[in-house]
Amino acid sequence: MITMEWTIRSEEPDDAEGIAAVLTDAFSRKDEAELVSLIRNSDAYDPELSLVCVEDGTIVGYVLFSPVVIRAADCDETKALALAPVAVLTQFRNQGIGTALIEEGIHRSHQKRAKIIVVLGEPGYYRRFRFESAKTHGIEPPWEVPEGSFMILGLEKNVLRDVHGMVHYPEAFSSTANTLK
Ligand SMILES: CC(C)(COP(=O)(O)OP(=O)(O)OC[C@H]1O[C@@H](n2cnc3c(N)ncnc32)[C@H](O)[C@@H]1OP(=O)(O)O)[C@@H](O)C(=O)NCCC(=O)NCCS
Repeated sequence: MITMEWTIRSEEPDDAEGIAAVLTDAFSRKDEAELVSLIRNSDAYDPELSLVCVEDGTIVGYVLFSPVVIRAADCDETKALALAPVAVLTQFRNQGIGTALIEEGIHRSHQKRAKIIVVLGEPGYYRRFRFESAKTHGIEPPWEVPEGSFMILGLEKNVLRDVHGMVHYPEAFSSTANTLK
């Protein structure tokens, strides 16, 4: 049996097509690929937080972290990052690629001094990265979402203690709000 090795790196200029292929395969629709394309052409894009997993020259996985703001009722604002989307080509799943992409993204977010990451998705998947219910911390998504699916990760001790409010995503997300999971 031949075992290929994969690596994780920042997105590079020629990666757009491969990323779109992974997203379209993983979600069986083009919405997430279009969302990433919109973000790539906006101020929200940071190539160091746009990560690909490459195996034998092919992009097989992808994750993006974008800047968001948590705005309290008194208009106090806290900067954070949103993890979305994450995807792995169907035939490359259950090898730890999704985990490696997310862990590298969390590591880089920490290095960039981000304090909080939010995600909308399956709690059963994200709990393994220590994401917890955002609602418990008084942090709300800007859309109606399934109970428990909006989650938050504090990257510093006690950072979630004094942060409350609604999360505001970059403009690109508003056209694809129903496709975030
Ligand atoms: C979610 C996804 C990125 C995981 O990628 P992956 O490379 O297979 O993930 P890993 O190999 O690191 O982890 C696999 C584990 O996650 C679990 N898992 C995968 N998707 C899950 C989900 N939606 N809910 C709960 N657990 C999930 C698997 O059962 C497996 O569990 P195990 O470690 O106990 O065996 C991939 O399944 C995918 O692209 N899905 C379609 C796109 C999508 O739904 N993305 C958002 C997820 S909310």
